[in-house]
Amino acid sequence: MKLEALRKEYERFQLSEGEVDADPIRQFGLWFEQAIQSELPEPHAMTLATATPDGRPSARIVLLRGYDDRGFGFFTNYESRKGEELAANPWGALVFYWHDLERQVRIEGRVEKVDAEESEQYFHTRPMASRIGALASPQSQVIASRDVLESIFREYEQRHSDGVVPRPAHWGGYRVIPDSIEFWQGRPSRLHDRLRYTRLPEGGWMLERLAP
Ligand SMILES: Cc1cc2nc3c(=O)[nH]c(=O)nc-3n(C[C@H](O)[C@H](O)[C@H](O)COP(=O)(O)O)c2cc1C
Repeated sequence: MKLEALRKEYERFQLSEGEVDADPIRQFGLWFEQAIQSELPEPHAMTLATATPDGRPSARIVLLRGYDDRGFGFFTNYESRKGEELAANPWGALVFYWHDLERQVRIEGRVEKVDAEESEQYFHTRPMASRIGALASPQSQVIASRDVLESIFREYEQRHSDGVVPRPAHWGGYRVIPDSIEFWQGRPSRLHDRLRYTRLPEGGWMLERLAP
């Protein structure tokens, strides 16, 4: 299969300045609900990009676990590679791709830890095995083998067989506080619609159209 033969025309929807919400978080909510209604697989999966202080980027998928006027939240291991990068350079970017809707959303901004209480609350909504997994996995570290990981898991499982699993201090949430959010809608002939909101210092948002 020649890669140049993989071509798709985007033609399902359009996006115009007149129709979008003045508030990008509400606009995100609208698109996110449509992604859920369309029964896309894991519409809350997003690419998170972070970078070292000297600008070397890294990216991976994480799951959106909440959004509101404060920003976009996800949970992870604070000692992971992303955690270390964010501790040294608190800027990040998120990308959603909703294939069937021919849509992409890009979010950029500072990334802050959510408060411990919020992490605590979310941690205890997770299934038992996920809570044990958070304890057992030294995320992003080199490990000797799968067996080692599974035996640490079993050890924690036994230790917490009463079902009480405390949140480890190294596990919790981050929030991306957006200063820019771009909505991309695929259109025919590669003349896609791109509307970008930029946060204004005095409050509110500026809306601009970008060339595709
Ligand atoms: C669909 C999907 C969802 C994921 N969700 C999360 C998540 O919410 N939190 C997380 O820490 N890792 C999640 N991961 C794993 C990350 O992509 C990554 O492997 C892990 O966070 C370690 O990344 P790092 O070494 O860059 O820190 C997910 C992976 C996939 C494919």
